[in-house]
Amino acid sequence: MLPTALPTRKRRRPEVAFARGREEVKFRDVTLYLVERRMGKSRRNFLSNLARSKGFCVDDALSSDVTHVVSEGNSAQELWNWLEEQGFGEKHDRHVLHISWFTESMSAGQPVPVEIRHYIQDPSVDQKSSAHSSAKQDSTVSTYACQRRTTLNNHNKIFTDALEILAENLEFCGDQGPSLAFRRAASVLKSLPAALRRQEDTQRLPCLGEHSKAIIEEIFECGSSSRVEEILNDERYRTMKLFSSVFGVGLKTSENWFCRGLRTFEQVLSEPSIRLNRMQTAGFLFYEDISKPVSRTEASALKIIVEEAVICVNPFATVSITGGFRRGKEFGHDVDFIIKTPEAGQEDVILPAVIERFKSQNILLYSDLQESTFDIRQLPTHCFDAMDHFSKCFLIVKLKCEQETDARAARDWKAVRVDLVAPPLERYTYALLGWTGSTLFERDLRRFARLERGKLLDNHALYDKATNTFLPANTEEDIFAHLGLEYIEPWQRNA
Ligand code: UTP
Ligand code: MN
Repeated sequence: MLPTALPTRKRRRPEVAFARGREEVKFRDVTLYLVERRMGKSRRNFLSNLARSKGFCVDDALSSDVTHVVSEGNSAQELWNWLEEQGFGEKHDRHVLHISWFTESMSAGQPVPVEIRHYIQDPSVDQKSSAHSSAKQDSTVSTYACQRRTTLNNHNKIFTDALEILAENLEFCGDQGPSLAFRRAASVLKSLPAALRRQEDTQRLPCLGEHSKAIIEEIFECGSSSRVEEILNDERYRTMKLFSSVFGVGLKTSENWFCRGLRTFEQVLSEPSIRLNRMQTAGFLFYEDISKPVSRTEASALKIIVEEAVICVNPFATVSITGGFRRGKEFGHDVDFIIKTPEAGQEDVILPAVIERFKSQNILLYSDLQESTFDIRQLPTHCFDAMDHFSKCFLIVKLKCEQETDARAARDWKAVRVDLVAPPLERYTYALLGWTGSTLFERDLRRFARLERGKLLDNHALYDKATNTFLPANTEEDIFAHLGLEYIEPWQRNA
């Protein structure tokens, strides 16, 4: 049956976008139908031909072969009224979808899995099942953090704090896998628009395993989790937490000290067999200051100092805050800056010069400069730890404060941790995305790119395995578009 196109008021434009060839059908399970209503004839032709050129089968008629109906610009009500008029029968394998599913599939070069957010729901069905509306809302939550919008407004802190303590404790025990499961569970809860009201609210949520659900249940029933209380009082947990809070002391060192029976800083510092490295020495030396959170005001003051130093070296270079502060956090454990130089090659000289300037200003307390090991010929990398090959430095600097922080020492400054990274110009966008975080958001972006799109993403590049090409990006939006993802603003990446 041919759909009756509604009369359009617009004047007809020439129809042919590109001629229809004899393209090979690659995806036999999918037959598309694009609704002309609101989309218009010429755009429909254009999109149909685009899809065919990518190996999709597109039916011009709403036949019984059609599996995916795609609509643009129609309200759910008018679309479904029209579909009914066409005698469109519901079958379980037929999808009525928003144009976003189509565009994501085009950029992926293959049909992407249909998710709840792609559906245009029949409003009459919606009314019938409104009793289940809260569960329905929950089922739209993606398993990937990069498909969720997570602001700092966490409505489920009581649960996420508990789950994150469990995760941290497992990290301290070296159980990275189970730890990640709790981190993911916490992250899903952080993205919810409201607090969980009862245990059943967790049923439709992804990434919540039996353990996570049990913890939530206990908090619902008792107001807290006995397992979490136990961990907070556990000697190993407390000691690992204390030791690893020192700059330069990682989990391995913390564990080593714990196993040797050490429990306090005093014991570590008076143990003759322990040789602290330069970083750890600075960590202990400035512990009191750098274990305190850095405020946004302090971060802004530091930005001016960094900018001044950078511009001295290269008047055309720019400095941007990244990390947690770019995501809108009010406090951080350090301040992360990314430097953009206008020409390739300039990134290599800028950090040593900034360090020299801080020295001459007498504000440098510690510096660890890591020269660039970036080699474009080694891309794409297949290891996806957060580390990258760019020129960067980890610093502790003196930040002048209004009041003297310590009357006895008569200090008018506070020691603050600062990270600077200076990627080559053409790598800037990928580096900015990577350094903005959060860590779990980045992890899921990479996982999504690899598993759902056959692409490799890291701080250096985005690589398409299907075509063996690097995908260019001038903005973060470009990277999301390459991945067929809706753009997520930095302040929505607090996964
Ligand atoms: P941070 O550890 O500074 O975290 O790393 P944060 O989100 O700013 O949080 P706080 O407030 O300081 O505690 C910022 C981002 O930079 C990435 C990390 O993966 C994280 O997403 N990063 C860090 C890299 O990509 N490469 C590095 O070498 C270091
Ligand atoms: Mn940071």
